[in-house]
Formats: sequence, structure tokens, C-alpha cells
Amino acid sequence: MRSINLEALINPMARLLFCLVFLNISVILLVLIGVKASSGSSLEKSSAFFIFGDSTVDPGNNNYIHTIPENQANFKPYGQNGFFDGPTGRFSNGLVIVDFIASYANLSLIPPFLEPSADYSYGVNFASGGAGVLPETHQGLAIDLPTQLKYFEEVKKSLTEKLGEAEADELISEAVYFISIGSNDYMGGYLGNPKMQENYQPEDYVAMVIGNLTEAIQVLYEKGGRKFGFLSLSPLGCLPALRALNPNKDSENGCFEAGSALAAAHNNALKGVLTSIEYIFEGFKYSNSNFYTWLEDRMNNPSNYGFKDGINACCGFGPYGGMLTCGGNKNITEYNLCGNPDDHVWWDSFHPTERIHEQFAKALWDGPSSSVGPFNLRDLFFSKEKLTIADIVDAPHLKDTSFSNII
Ligand SMILES: *[C@@H]1O[C@H](CO)[C@@H](O)[C@H](O)[C@H]1NC(C)=O
Ligand SMILES: *[C@@H]1O[C@H](CO)[C@@H](O)[C@H](O)[C@H]1NC(C)=O
Ligand SMILES: *[C@@H]1O[C@H](CO)[C@@H](O)[C@H](O)[C@H]1NC(C)=O
Repeated sequence: MRSINLEALINPMARLLFCLVFLNISVILLVLIGVKASSGSSLEKSSAFFIFGDSTVDPGNNNYIHTIPENQANFKPYGQNGFFDGPTGRFSNGLVIVDFIASYANLSLIPPFLEPSADYSYGVNFASGGAGVLPETHQGLAIDLPTQLKYFEEVKKSLTEKLGEAEADELISEAVYFISIGSNDYMGGYLGNPKMQENYQPEDYVAMVIGNLTEAIQVLYEKGGRKFGFLSLSPLGCLPALRALNPNKDSENGCFEAGSALAAAHNNALKGVLTSIEYIFEGFKYSNSNFYTWLEDRMNNPSNYGFKDGINACCGFGPYGGMLTCGGNKNITEYNLCGNPDDHVWWDSFHPTERIHEQFAKALWDGPSSSVGPFNLRDLFFSKEKLTIADIVDAPHLKDTSFSNII
């Protein structure tokens, strides 16, 4: 009875509002975002791009540090495919994944932090071949993650001086932070380090790496970073170098299972951490990836993706091309070079070809949810979430509803 009386009192306008607010919240959001998109030019501007990591994304920082040739790629035949005039320090026959991502985001190539007079105003790349999450990994031979974070702090200061605090803060909070690191902690840092293996069970070691990686994410969040992208680890045991080292090649289908198991455990743990901190860190948005399965599929079924060889390195020596001699300036100078790197998944004994970098960049940019999620990178670069939410909260016609509680 009561409800019928109430119903009669509600005028059609209020009913409409009721429906809109409680049944069509997502539609309102879409409409508001749509209005913003068509009226504000800020939406079409891309975000700055800051990159942290190891040789998977190093654009040449290691050209400027004192290290061993194994951690460098500024000599032929690296970069041989003609995109650049010569070798740049990228561990690829050409570009690496973050170069493709920058171009999809309508940004110029992101410069290495150590390049003299690099322009930081649309981002900078701190990655260093051989680097780990843990400072113990290849200590003294690469720029570890904690040091990369210190360099970011320097960049933030210099941007604040150049742009003023408000504009620098906006750039920092709208920027995308891409992190690709961890492989070296498991290969050189653990499997190649008997002392570490004595001191830590694999699961404790993974927890330590993930604990430190989580702290790094938190540091960037506290400095204003909100949008993060992660390149998960590949099946490390199937890298040509680890296949070549595997004492049980025949029983394990060639791959060094202990390496792949560590990578899988790391990826699982990172996935869990990201799911939790999404709820704890307000405004945190991320794009994770499934590089493990994606790459495994290409190694096992190369011809489905336009490759002829999913196993052997194009540039290297010995079984699987797994000895890291590409370039011939290491202790063993002999190396083989394949005719067409585009036929290969692997460029050298640790690193994929440019073609793999490009295919995975596309998957991360706007690929299927089996490869990337919960956001893809295009969402992160071109959504100005902060502005849009503020606009909604401030929208006068919604002030009197409980709408803001829902956000
Ligand atoms: C990127 O730049 C191209 C060419 O300037 C333009 O057509 C395109 O709309 C831009 N993409 C985005 C998403 O802004
Ligand atoms: C970070 O790594 C260090 C070793 O470098 C370790 O002692 C520490 O416990 C780790 N931190 C976390 C939060 O796991
Ligand atoms: C290469 O040779 C140098 C100098 O002889 C030596 O110090 C280093 O340990 C060698 N590296 C490898 C990987 O064998």
C-alpha cells in the first residue's frame, strides 16, 4: 500500500532522474566522457612516457656506463636492420617494444636518461641492460632499479624547475610508467649465483624480488605516478642461452624448467600484488601483460605468426645460438648471423627480434584481454581520468544525488 502511494507522488521528472542515477550510471559516465572528448583538446594529447627496466627496454643507457660487453649492444650487428644509422645500444636488430609503444602514443622516441642533453619533457627511459630489481643482481655492471628511481627523482626536480610545480605535477600524474624488469634477478642473480640459492628457497627469493618491486611501484605512486604498464617475464628457461645450459635438454623438451618456473611464479605474484594495490592506492590504474604464454605460443608455433624458427638465436654461437657471442667482441669471438632476423623469434641468446617487439607492442596497445589487462596501453595514454572524474563530481546537476558516493 505504502509503496503505491509513494509511487503516485513521484513526478515523471524525478522518475527519470531515478532511472538515470540508479540504472544508467555507466551511460551517464559515457555521455560525460564523450562530451569531454569532443569539447576538450586535452583529451587527444598523449601522456608522457617513463620507462624503467633491463635490456628488454634499454635504449642505450649502458653506452654511458662502465660495464662488460655482455651488458652492451652498441656494436654491430645490433641495430642492423637500418632503422637507425648504426647500433644504438638496443638489444635487438632494430627497435624495442617501448619504441613502438611511443610511436603508437604519438610521441617521439623516448631518450635514454644518460644521453647528454636529453629532453625530458615527454618522458625518459632509465632502463639498463643487465639490471635487476635487487641491487645485488649484476652489482656494479648495470643501473639497478633503486638507482633508476633516484634518477627519476632528478628528472622530476628538473621538470619542476622548467615547467613550474603545477604543470610538472600534471605531467607526472598523467604520465605512463612502464616497468620491464626481473629476468636478471632470476637468471644471473639466482640461477647463476650458488650463494643466493644456498640462502634462499626459490619461493622466498621470488617474494623478495616482488617485495622490492612493489616498493618501487609505491615510490613512483608517492611521487605522483598513477598509470602503470608492466611487461611480464617470458618463459626464461626457453631463452636460447638457458636451453644451451640445460643439463637435461632431452627430458625437458629443451627448456630449462627451473628458469621458466621462477618466471611463472614471479608473474603470478606480481598479478596478485597489482590486484591488491589497485584497491589500496587511490587512482592507480594499470596494464599488465601475459608475455609468458604469448611468447611460448610463438616459440612452439612459429609458422602461425610468420616466423620460421622459434628456438634458435639469429645471432650467437653453439647450441641454439645460445652462447652470447653476438658481435664477436667477447671472450669467444666466433659467432653466426642468420640471413633474415625476421624469420626468428630470437635475435641473440637472450633477446627477441624486433619483429617480436613490434608484435607484442601491438598486443599491449590494444590487443585481446588474453594478452593485456585490465587496461590496455592505449587506454592509459589517451584517457585523462583525473580531469573527467573531477568534472563529474563538480557537475552541478548531479550535486544533490548520491552519485558522488558511488564514485
Ligand atoms: C596521432 O597522430 C596522427 C597524425 O598526427 C593523428 O592522425 C592521430 O589522430 C593521432 N592519434 C591520437 C590517438 O591522437
Ligand atoms: C628487498 O631486497 C632486500 C635485498 O636486496 C631484502 O633484504 C629485503 O627484504 C627486500 N624487501 C622486501 C620488502 O622484500
Ligand atoms: C673474459 O675474460 C676476462 C679477462 O680475461 C675475464 O676476467 C672474464 O671473467 C671472462 N669472462 C667470461 C664470461 O669468461
